[in-house]
Amino acid sequence: MEIKITQDLDTEVIVIGKFENENTNQELANTYAVEKDGFEGKFGETYLLHTYGKIPADKILVVGLGKREQFNNVKMTEAAAKAVKKLRQIKAKKAVFNFDGLSEFGKEAVIGAYIGDYSFDKYKSEKDFHIENLGFVNFAEKDIEEGKIFAEAMNLTRNIANEPAEYATPAKLAEIASHLEGLDTKIYDRDEIKKMDMGAYLAVARGSAEPPKFIHMKYSNGNPKKRIALIGKGLCFDSGGMDLKPASSMLTMRDDMSGAACILGVMSALNKLKPQDIEIHGIVAACENMPGQNAYKPGDILTAKNGKTIEVDNTDAEGRLTLADALCYASELGVDEVIDIATLTGACVVALGSVASGVMGNDDKMIKDVIETAKVSGEKYWELPMFEEYKDSLKSDIADMKNTGSRYGGASAAGVFLKEFVSNVKWVHIDVAGTAFLEKPKGIFIYGSTGIGVRTLLNYVTEQK
Ligand code: BES
Ligand code: MN
Ligand code: ZN
Repeated sequence: MEIKITQDLDTEVIVIGKFENENTNQELANTYAVEKDGFEGKFGETYLLHTYGKIPADKILVVGLGKREQFNNVKMTEAAAKAVKKLRQIKAKKAVFNFDGLSEFGKEAVIGAYIGDYSFDKYKSEKDFHIENLGFVNFAEKDIEEGKIFAEAMNLTRNIANEPAEYATPAKLAEIASHLEGLDTKIYDRDEIKKMDMGAYLAVARGSAEPPKFIHMKYSNGNPKKRIALIGKGLCFDSGGMDLKPASSMLTMRDDMSGAACILGVMSALNKLKPQDIEIHGIVAACENMPGQNAYKPGDILTAKNGKTIEVDNTDAEGRLTLADALCYASELGVDEVIDIATLTGACVVALGSVASGVMGNDDKMIKDVIETAKVSGEKYWELPMFEEYKDSLKSDIADMKNTGSRYGGASAAGVFLKEFVSNVKWVHIDVAGTAFLEKPKGIFIYGSTGIGVRTLLNYVTEQK
């Protein structure tokens, strides 16, 4: 899809907006859609009007924007996505958005348009219909550019996360990372990971024929006043390991690298957005969790990078083991803040469904900032508790801790486990097990990866002062 600023309304479809109880900026639409047909403009509803030569464009698509006082940037994204989905449904190749009075929402409109146009049809013989040209009349060039960069980052994330595990292997993630422009990237292989004493991560990786890759990307610009590390869970496939998952739970476990895919998307955008005076690290401990003959076993005792020992209670609680070593690594970088994003627990899915992602951390202000950034980015994050008591269930008789405890409160238990590997740095953990990958379409998102985290983390790191 080509996106550009235009004043030329000679196109296939002009897309206009209508607030409830207000007229549009288009006389034809007011006469036919509003007066004759009573189109109210409830949020997300659309009305298609043929112009029969009365104006140069063939059709007008009126998009309901709901009540003006409730409109905001998140609504803009949704409205644009819905409009584009409608345009694809009527097989319009070219269209122009002519939204009056919404000039401050250019970035969100572009992001929404891309979300509406997204599909993953790489493996289909018959390709999906996509819009070729989309013009925008009232937006600023800078906002359109920024929206495009965000949207392309999301698309990269969604494409990687949607790929089968056969394709998106640890080596593939490493290859993608090393091709991102403007970053200083280092890939560590198994021997180097051993030298870094990442005993927990290595144990998880052992059961698979696919070798692990530890990926460290670095963006730096100007005189860094702030340094942030972003970690993504990178389980390219989670079979559960020796504690094998049942078939139905294993089916979508190619999505267990959604956190990693998010970080690749975020890092891919930095060289284009060029945030100033900041250093941003992107870290992924990529591997597969498989029950191969070298697989780690229940009852094994692992030593993480910071020397803490972990009794393996369940090999399916592997994400926190890989993150443990990644968090130690990030803590040693001496950054100001660490954020990890992970498809970590089924318990988080039970608690929040596919509506919201769970957030925990060790610094109240940072937790609030991340949640607030999510809100304005069109993502829903919700804080979950990290009471000390959750640690009780992780008590081990033979090691410093077990990797799992009770089934109850599982998202928080995972949070307090991770906390053991964070030292001297502000930290936020985002559990996206329920929100990263949809098994059926929801809102403006289709089946598969949602690119969760990309918009929030990009806004978070670029708005740092
Ligand atoms: N990758 C899963 C979590 C998950 C569940 C992600 C559903 C996406 C959708 C994780 O590695 C896992 O298996 N967690 C276990 C932990 C348990 C053994 C304590 C779980 O949540 O069941
Ligand atoms: Mn697992
Ligand atoms: Zn997992």
